[in-house]
Amino acid sequence: MPIIQAVNISKIFNLGQHNQVRALKNVNLSIESGQCVLLSGPSGSGKSTLLSILACLSKPTEGAYFCMGEQVSRWSEKFLTQFRRQHIGIIFQHFHLISGLTARANVAIPLVPRNFSHYALKQAIEVAADAAGIIHKIDEPVEKLSGGEQQRVAIARALVSNPELLFADEPTAHLDSHTALNILNTLQKLKNQGKTIVITSHDPLVQQHPMIDRHLRLQDGTLTDSL
Ligand SMILES: Nc1ncnc2c1ncn2[C@@H]1O[C@H](COP(=O)(O)OP(=O)(O)O)[C@@H](O)[C@H]1O
Ligand SMILES: [Mg+2]
Repeated sequence: MPIIQAVNISKIFNLGQHNQVRALKNVNLSIESGQCVLLSGPSGSGKSTLLSILACLSKPTEGAYFCMGEQVSRWSEKFLTQFRRQHIGIIFQHFHLISGLTARANVAIPLVPRNFSHYALKQAIEVAADAAGIIHKIDEPVEKLSGGEQQRVAIARALVSNPELLFADEPTAHLDSHTALNILNTLQKLKNQGKTIVITSHDPLVQQHPMIDRHLRLQDGTLTDSL
């Protein structure tokens, strides 16, 4: 059974209003566990909208979305959030870190609602920071870190709950090519550990990277072709 299955999903923003937008149109997609899938397409084609549905941040307006065998598109926001916290890590293009806090505190954020013991929390943070290659800066305030280091903190935060699924929305958009390649190599290691990864990007570095198993293209909210 695929780990991700979208059946005829559409997303309509501002439904019934004069500014209604059909951002996704009847998208069908299935992804097997352990695959690394690239979603590309021009700006405005619906990449972030599709990623946010697949990552259980939002729900489709029409159609069904099954994640890890569960029809999550039928669930309430509350259940969706709980499921996301347990099984899904998300990396954003603008990192979304909280400045004024250390890397360690930022990485800990997803675990705050879980009431971990001090020791378990420390362990989880350090395992994630090590996998993301940022353990050496773990007690630095995030605003003192470079862009690449900040993205590593964001990856560690996405990993801290040891999710099966990782989603990255244009993870290299604000990085120079050397740093971007290092970040991609870090994601490849996570793939090698068995994580399923979906990346949106129009960066040729990502498209050419050997970790990519499949390349899907979006155009005006429609999946056009897949390799
Ligand atoms: N919250 C929103 N409200 C209204 N329209 C939106 C919203 N989010 C995205 N859109 C629209 O949906 C379309 C797809 O956007 P998006 O998924 O962000 O594209 P991409 O990530 O490929 O650049 C665009 O026309 C965008 O303006
Ligand atoms: Mg986008």
